[in-house]
Amino acid sequence: MTRIAYVNGRYVPHGQAAVHVEDRGYQFSDGVYEVIAVHRGRLVDEHGHLDRLERSLGELRIAPPMTRRALRVVIGEVVRRNRLGHDGMIYLQVTRGVAPRDHAFPDAADSALVVTARRLPPFDAAAATGVDVITIPDIRWERRDIKSISLLPNVLGKQQAQDAGAYEAWMVDGEGQVTEGTLSNAWIVTAEGELVTRHADRAILSGITRRAVLELARGEGIGFVERPFTVDEAKAAREAFLTGTTVLVKPVLHIDGQAVGDGRAGPLTGKLAAFYAAHMKTQGESP
Ligand SMILES: Cc1ncc(COP(=O)(O)O)c(C=O)c1O
Repeated sequence: MTRIAYVNGRYVPHGQAAVHVEDRGYQFSDGVYEVIAVHRGRLVDEHGHLDRLERSLGELRIAPPMTRRALRVVIGEVVRRNRLGHDGMIYLQVTRGVAPRDHAFPDAADSALVVTARRLPPFDAAAATGVDVITIPDIRWERRDIKSISLLPNVLGKQQAQDAGAYEAWMVDGEGQVTEGTLSNAWIVTAEGELVTRHADRAILSGITRRAVLELARGEGIGFVERPFTVDEAKAAREAFLTGTTVLVKPVLHIDGQAVGDGRAGPLTGKLAAFYAAHMKTQGESP
């Protein structure tokens, strides 16, 4: 089946989808993106993703390419044309548009929108297998709350993890506190049993999955604290896990080669993963 992409007003075969060489995303990383999971043909937490997209655009003073209502129609059309009746993901990128290369904002450029789709094996958060993480210095800029397409430190970090035989790299700030993973948020259950994830300020991306898991925990009466935690605290934790749109809720078994707890997926992680799996089934929104 031919994959179809939306590029600036046109639905085109994926293989022919292209943007101009002077697109500011290509030249300056001057743009933002979102990834939305599709589960059983339905978008997961669509509104949360579109709210965050609008926020990212606003922070960078990039004009929304179209109204939210129109954007939802485009996303729905991409889902339909790619026959994403089961599981997959939508990638959505907005840049400041095409203009002669100059650092300052162009006087007149329409922001550019690309939407692509990809089929994926069925999501099953409840059956997630555990992964290992390494820790690396966080060398990113100070506005990690903006979902910018400028991802070089994340790319390098993920590759470093892969080279070390791990799945993810947890980035660590100057105070020895874990900020987040290269494509996921970081969580621990401390030695005392406290569920902890870093508070969402400018130092991390406010993950939509992170927020959903916090709300599920709240709904189930599971206490949690949003605060920084150190690498040492994480290594001494009972449990650790990651959250993200496509990683779902993934147990962390080792940090820098050191077992977390008994080195197996922890019970609270398992519970939260099961809640999230149910959330994906019931909260998905029709495009
Ligand atoms: C740096 C970073 N942190 C966290 C996340 C998780 O965010 P979400 O749950 O919205 O996918 C991502 C997702 O891509 C990410 O790139």
